[in-house]
Amino acid sequence: MISPTRVLKIESASDEVQAVDEAALILRRGGLVAFPTETVYGLGADATNPMAVARIFEAKGRPASNPLIVHVSDVAMARSCVASWPDQAQALADRFWPGPLTLVLPRSNIIPDIVTAGRETVGVRLPSPRLVRALIERTGRPIAAPSANRSTGISPTTAEHVRKDLEGKVDLILDGGPTHLGIESTVVDVHVSPPCILRPGPISAEDLARALGGVQPVELTPSGSSPIGPASSPGQMAVHYAPRTRAIRLEAPQLDRFPWKDSTALLVVGELTPPAIPEGVTRQVVLNTPERAASELYRVLHDFDECGVEQIVVVMPPDQSDWRAIRDRLRRATRPWLEEDCGTSSR
Ligand code: TXA
Ligand code: MG
Repeated sequence: MISPTRVLKIESASDEVQAVDEAALILRRGGLVAFPTETVYGLGADATNPMAVARIFEAKGRPASNPLIVHVSDVAMARSCVASWPDQAQALADRFWPGPLTLVLPRSNIIPDIVTAGRETVGVRLPSPRLVRALIERTGRPIAAPSANRSTGISPTTAEHVRKDLEGKVDLILDGGPTHLGIESTVVDVHVSPPCILRPGPISAEDLARALGGVQPVELTPSGSSPIGPASSPGQMAVHYAPRTRAIRLEAPQLDRFPWKDSTALLVVGELTPPAIPEGVTRQVVLNTPERAASELYRVLHDFDECGVEQIVVVMPPDQSDWRAIRDRLRRATRPWLEEDCGTSSR
């Protein structure tokens, strides 16, 4: 039988102090703690303890080839995890930390192979919630933490999402309410020149360029290749962040041609006027700004996945820079509708 996972709700400053004490003790002993960051919930373990980190891979069913992000409580701790700290890393940390930005740099020898999946680089991030920074500081070690979901599933934005996915596999869940930003951090490789965006996120290419004094970072194409050569973004698999229910995406011009015969939950993303609700659509949600879409996206996909419809249909936002991170996540959660399939696109 799976033992129930303890969930600690944090509603006051004294709850926070107690939760941090308990969670830090678990982490120092090699256990797993899930906690809210500003992006999504993370599943944390002591990044310097290979046995503890192995439990993350096991709990998530994550391939050993996909490296983890290491979370730190300050820049000094970040620098202890990396072998070099170029000016561009400093400029980005000055501008965006604490915040939803992960910097990929050559790793130092305190970071074991298992964290980086054998790579010579490590992703480091200083998250913004006080709770997480207090937890890392109290633990006194960097914390490796992927999103707290089963591998390839939808990322969790509430403690309940984590519990449903990882019940019995994690020692403690800290429930700090829904996460604020809702999609995962921007991941930037800063040990290549120019820096390369491995995963688009809340901090855009334009934001990065401004902080880099006009140096334009390279962006990966949706297929994961880079204009400057083979890029290494192991976590950017084509299907990722995906619901279990069949999920199809439509570009706005396809809307009128789609055969709405199966029972459908419809998500319209973008500023488009939502269509008159087609027959078969039992639920419809419209997310009309990039910020709202980011913060609600995974919650809506979790809800749709559990509401018993035959399919989820997503109408995509325009292919414009402010929607880039949202389009990236939606592409990974869905299959395109190929008109010759007559709506029966399967995965
Ligand atoms: O917002 C976030 O980044 C959340 C919260 C919990 O911090 N974490 C997160 O972790 O999304 P995860 O493991 O679900 O995604 C990490 C991404 C993957 O795409 C992984 O391949 C990439 O970062 N990554 C990590 N280390 C890397 C490295 N050394 N080189 C290239 N990519 C790396
Ligand atoms: Mg993830």
